[in-house]
Amino acid sequence: MSNRRTFAIISHPDAGKTTLTEKLLLQGGAIHLAGEVKARGQQRRARSDWMKIEQQRGISVTSSVMTFERANENGEIVTFNLLDTPGHEDFSEDTYRTLTAVDSAVMVIDAAKGIEPQTRKLFEVCRLRSVPIITFVNKVDREGRDPFETLDEVADMLALDVSPQGWPIGMGGQFEGILDFASGEVSRPEGPSKEFLGTREANPTIPEEFAEEAELAQVGYPEFDEEAYRNGDLTPVYFGSALKNFGVTELIEAIAKHAPPPRPQPAGEEQIEPDHGEVTGFIFKVQANMDPNHRDRIAFMRQVSGTFKRGMKLTPSGLGKPIAIHSPILFFAQDREIADTAEAGDIIGIPNHGTLRVGDTLSEKDQVRFTGLPNFAPEILRRVQLKDPTKTKQLRKALDDLSEEGVIQVFYPEIGAQHIVGVVGQLQLDVLVSRLSAEYKVEAALEAAPFATARWLKGDAKAMAEFESFNRANLAKDRDGDLVFMAKSPWDVNYQVEKNPELAFSATKER
Ligand code: G4P
Repeated sequence: MSNRRTFAIISHPDAGKTTLTEKLLLQGGAIHLAGEVKARGQQRRARSDWMKIEQQRGISVTSSVMTFERANENGEIVTFNLLDTPGHEDFSEDTYRTLTAVDSAVMVIDAAKGIEPQTRKLFEVCRLRSVPIITFVNKVDREGRDPFETLDEVADMLALDVSPQGWPIGMGGQFEGILDFASGEVSRPEGPSKEFLGTREANPTIPEEFAEEAELAQVGYPEFDEEAYRNGDLTPVYFGSALKNFGVTELIEAIAKHAPPPRPQPAGEEQIEPDHGEVTGFIFKVQANMDPNHRDRIAFMRQVSGTFKRGMKLTPSGLGKPIAIHSPILFFAQDREIADTAEAGDIIGIPNHGTLRVGDTLSEKDQVRFTGLPNFAPEILRRVQLKDPTKTKQLRKALDDLSEEGVIQVFYPEIGAQHIVGVVGQLQLDVLVSRLSAEYKVEAALEAAPFATARWLKGDAKAMAEFESFNRANLAKDRDGDLVFMAKSPWDVNYQVEKNPELAFSATKER
């Protein structure tokens, strides 16, 4: 049984993801001082204009990987691979792809605010991919909402059973600790020692209201059932405070104990199991120019099967010939390290010069093709207007690069010379303009495009050619040369769908 736990934290900005990440890393001994994650973040942010956007807006645009280890209750070492997801809704596409690379997720909810629409969307993606969720209700040390209300909301939204694993005593100003249902112990925020408070009959210092509530919660909700959790039918709920490092141990122990080890991944009709007889993996993220002085480009591979050894030759599906992986990177919280070996469930960074693209499968035998990494139809489309027309070539290169990275999608209209970029959220456009200038020395402006959305077209050659001849003004090719219908409105899409039953208009495209 694998000791890897590869997971992501999903939350609304400000719910406490950064604080919780830091406390998880502290528990794993990966960092030694609270504040290191933030401090590192700031160093990183200072590096380029692109990072400046993060700084100005106080958000995290890039997602990264953090690996740490910790012994479980039997003293065995568990390796945790925590994939950070950008908290900003404009980066949902990036987030979606990150979620394809994890086996489980922790959903962080701000006790005072409940579930926000953003988290709801992320949850739906988890659902779609049957990623099981552990819920962490954070900030119980603040004036919070009624915990029952929060539980009901989680149950309603997720349409699944919730199973509280403990209960906060006196939320808000009167916060005193958390009763752990399994052990019956109450842990208090002060110090590491757990203090048993017991039942109200035995201990009259427990406020009456709390004792009643805790009892109601314990009998009113289903017991934890690991199978139901792993099937995505139930979420265990932990209460805590990331800031006070409280309830975090319980959370990490739950991940070690219950979260699924590396899962099989879909490859067409097949499922590739972790013990499949060769190394396989897929690229879910490419990050270029992390250091503008070196033009480095790192592809993040989720390993699906086998034991990877440094120097090994793997064939990327997009390239068709093997490449030797000499400097694979493992991302320990404090540092990057060269990886000598890696197992199924691990994430390794592969430095490259553009040979690896999001959606590529890497394997020893070049027979597997992983599926399920979609592009999403853009919700905002803009024309790119060059300020200096002699820079056309550089612009095309930059747009191709950035679309490979997944920052934007690019469309080349069949008529007219102006490139069109598509994004899911506004912030991606700011990142685009800023990176064009900082990394490619291309000054560009974005102007309104006469289109509202795009659909990938599929059908037999004759039907496609016919459609193409009539609709050239509304057609473009994407980065791969695939035909895309540029629609003026959702109505326009529906109209064409009805008029052309022999064609498929798709809002997503497999990468
Ligand atoms: P994010 O990554 O999800 O965006 O959230 P982050 O951890 O940055 O936390 C957002 C704010 O909430 C921070 O306050 C943080 O200190 C606070 N916070 C996180 N967890 C808890 C908790 O359990 N209890 C309480 N009371 N607060 C919590 P800030 O004022 O925005 O930043 P800072 O000045 O504390 O750095």
